[in-house]
Formats: sequence, C-alpha cells, structure tokens
Amino acid sequence: MNTGVVIVAAGSGKRMGAERNKVWLPLGGEPILAHTVRLFANHPEIGEVVLVVSERDHADVLAWLRREKLKLTVALGGAERQDSVRSGLAALSPDCSYVLVHDAARPFVTREQISELIRRVQREQATIMAVPVKDTIKVIGANGTVQSTPARESLWAVQTPQAFRVSLLREAHQAALGAGKTGTDDAMLVEWLGHPVTVMMGSYENIKITTPDDLWLGEEILRRRKG
Ligand code: CTP
Ligand code: MG
Repeated sequence: MNTGVVIVAAGSGKRMGAERNKVWLPLGGEPILAHTVRLFANHPEIGEVVLVVSERDHADVLAWLRREKLKLTVALGGAERQDSVRSGLAALSPDCSYVLVHDAARPFVTREQISELIRRVQREQATIMAVPVKDTIKVIGANGTVQSTPARESLWAVQTPQAFRVSLLREAHQAALGAGKTGTDDAMLVEWLGHPVTVMMGSYENIKITTPDDLWLGEEILRRRKG
C-alpha cells in the first residue's frame, strides 16, 4: 500500500512581494522548498514524491534537483492551487493508494505528524491537520461593518498536509472541475462530495510562509529546533 505526497510549489508568492516565487527564499541559508522536499523525500513511509512547479521555475527546479541528487517526479502547475494539485494527482503512479497534499511553503510539519496522518488516513479516508484559532474571528461585510461573530470554540485554522485516499481525492477534483467550483483547500472538494473529513490536531509551528514577517518567525522556529 503505497503512500505518495503532492507538494505544490507552483504559486508566485504575491503576498510576499519578493522578486521571485517565495519558495526560493532562504530559510536557515537554504531555499524554503529544500526543507519541505527533503522532509518528505527522506520519510520512510512516503513511497513517492510529486513536486508541482510553474513553467517559470521548471528549469531551475530540475537543475536544483540534479545538484541535490534528488530523484522525484516533477509536474507542471496551473493558474490556481487547485489546478496544481490536480496536475500532481495525475502524475502519481497507479499503485499509490493514499496521498498527502502539502504546500511547499509549509516547511515546519514534522516527521511524526506525517506518520500520524498516514496512520489516520488509512482508517478515515480523508484527514486534515488544523489548530483551534486563537483570535476571535468576525465576518465583515462589504461596507466594512461587522455582520456576525461565529463562536470561537468551533473555529479551526486548517493546515497542510491533508491526506486522502487517492481515488476519493481524484473524484472530488473531477467533480469540482465539472461543476466549475474552486475551493481554498482540498478538503473542501471532498466535503462537497458529502464525504466526512476528520481532523487531526496540527501545530502552531506549522506556519505557511506567506508574508515577510513569516520569514523571521520561520528563522526563529528553525533556530530553536536546531537547539
Ligand atoms: N500554489 C501552487 N499553484 C498555484 C498557487 C499556489 O502550487 N497556482 C502553491 C504555492 O506555491 C504554495 C501553496 O500552493 O506552496 C500555498 O499557496 P500560497 O501560500 O497562497 O502561495 P502563493 O499562491 O504562491 O502566494 P500568494 O497567494 O501570496 O500569491
Ligand atoms: Mg495563493
């Protein structure tokens, strides 16, 4: 029973405001992408890594993989994250039963969390990592005033990796494509099928490097882990 991972790196990192895709920015002296890819490539329970990149980054990624002596499958991404994931799913080998979908921009997920997620998805078919939100969240209307305040106890911030039976996630992506629906994560597409999605406790350190302040937070997390 093979488990693969689709790592999506085909964005452009607009909110970071850097000159190139944020996944190349250095963290502890190495590209963010290097931390994320190495973690999965070296994980004993991951049989297959598909890295999804943009056309713009394609040549640089191939050169980097050669230098690092990393052998993995490279797929081309699309305009939206959902398109990139779909492309990655198509590149998985036929014997892959379970897949983790992960953002290249989240380098701090741990080996143990990956193992736990793999154990759980084999029972539950669709499992995501999330943490309870710390702030009170409000719905703000277009006119800039508060419309409602959902109860904080039920609000969780969702992370990646998200893990699925491959056939289920493929079905969900096909259905979303057919209906012209775009979700902000993969679990949403599975929810639209009416399939239950279970939640595993994530970690507040599993941040997504999105804006410049995440970079210094990331350096600090790395420094503390190196101890
Ligand atoms: N991603 C992707 N294909 C896209 C868009 C995003 O593979 N068309 C990837 C990103 O490279 C990133 C992950 O999805 O690793 C999470 O997306 P996000 O943090 O939003 O990254 P970007 O889309 O690159 O950043 P921004 O939204 O600020 O432009
Ligand atoms: Mg984005």
